[in-house]
Amino acid sequence: MKRVEHKRRRRRLLKSVGRDGIAILPAAREVIRNRDVHYPFRQHSDFSYVTGFPEPDAFAVFTPGRDEGECILFCRPRDAERERWDGVRFGVEGAIASFGADQAHPLAELDEVMPTLIDGRKRLYYPVGVDPDLDARVMGWVNRVRGKVRTGAIAPDTFITIGSLIHEQRLRKSRAELALMRRAAQISAHAHRRVMQSCVPGMKELDLEAEFQHACFKEGARFQAYPAIVGSGANACVLHYIENSAVLEDGGLVLIDAGCELDGYASDITRTFPVNGRFSPAQREVYELVLEAQKAAIARVQPGCRWNEPHEAALRVLTKGLVRLGVLKGKVGKLIKKEAYKPYYMHRTGHWLGMDVHDVGDYKRDGEWRELEPGMVLTVEPGLYLPVTDAVPAPYRQIGIRIEDDVLVTQKGHEILSRAAPKHPDEIETLMVR
Ligand code: GLY
Ligand code: MN
Ligand code: MN
Repeated sequence: MKRVEHKRRRRRLLKSVGRDGIAILPAAREVIRNRDVHYPFRQHSDFSYVTGFPEPDAFAVFTPGRDEGECILFCRPRDAERERWDGVRFGVEGAIASFGADQAHPLAELDEVMPTLIDGRKRLYYPVGVDPDLDARVMGWVNRVRGKVRTGAIAPDTFITIGSLIHEQRLRKSRAELALMRRAAQISAHAHRRVMQSCVPGMKELDLEAEFQHACFKEGARFQAYPAIVGSGANACVLHYIENSAVLEDGGLVLIDAGCELDGYASDITRTFPVNGRFSPAQREVYELVLEAQKAAIARVQPGCRWNEPHEAALRVLTKGLVRLGVLKGKVGKLIKKEAYKPYYMHRTGHWLGMDVHDVGDYKRDGEWRELEPGMVLTVEPGLYLPVTDAVPAPYRQIGIRIEDDVLVTQKGHEILSRAAPKHPDEIETLMVR
């Protein structure tokens, strides 16, 4: 991401903070996994979005209108010994030279400098209530200012969550962000193709996860946006199944929900296909129903449509289909009203997608589902999960299917970012012929 992107985002943030406000944004911390091993570090999305600074433990502070500088970064100082072990740090010089901070301080000065930056500001934005240690630390700084009011100091009296200033920006993707998201979705789509091509009965779910990650690595995406779900047979009906340990049975289906993260941007794709490369008639029937629901939902991804419209379009098709399959009985409208589909379709049809897989941004505005606008990206992911119960006719039992694409709202309609992942049953069967 070019530095000018971050600069533009910071300008907008400063404008919303206003001259009598101050915003404090912490970077992610390193987290110990066990003894000397850390979890792979990932920068906090909000912090990364406005600073581009990749190191842990830093703090960015925004003080609109301050003569000495409006963007201040506190970070780890250069340290030859630590850098020999852990790699190069940018240090305070790098924070200014490479990331456009107006001023930078070593982290050790944070507690000393913060009260002087807070003094005179009425509103303080930070991630309120997310981390008790941070809450206590911020209040410690504020109390230092309060202790000096008799000398003319002014302490903030309003504390506001900083997400409210950043998340609306993040919801509307820039051209550069969309280029990254297109590429992330394409890499994942290629990986889904590779998984289909490599699949044979007798392999394990884990083998498919390995194929997926291998393909992502080869195209330059080292991290996954979330742990892959690879569920074969009845496991496909467990929505967050990540054990991925079962053997892939001949004659069954396998659902794989996996997506890479590329330069901090997520993709999120689900495909379901027959382990042996041929859908049985019952599998195809349910598959085509979910596909029809997905297409109906995607057709409602257009500027001006409300957030709920794709979900409602999918519900209508799925409920009608459940009646056709003999799973539900009654009038479609009534069945939808009383949520009769819920035992078989229990999640919603999508979510915002961006730096986080379940990305930030409100779904409702003033109590109404919000309108879709060009630049927003969402997933469309209807499914059906048919358990072993008397209500489900025998041929359809233990069939779990989800089809998930990443869809951008454009000026004229939409663009399916993940379109390179095959989803028509004939296309899947052709790809899997050996
Ligand atoms: N992979 C998580 C989701 O589809 O929302
Ligand atoms: Mn998914
Ligand atoms: Mn999803």
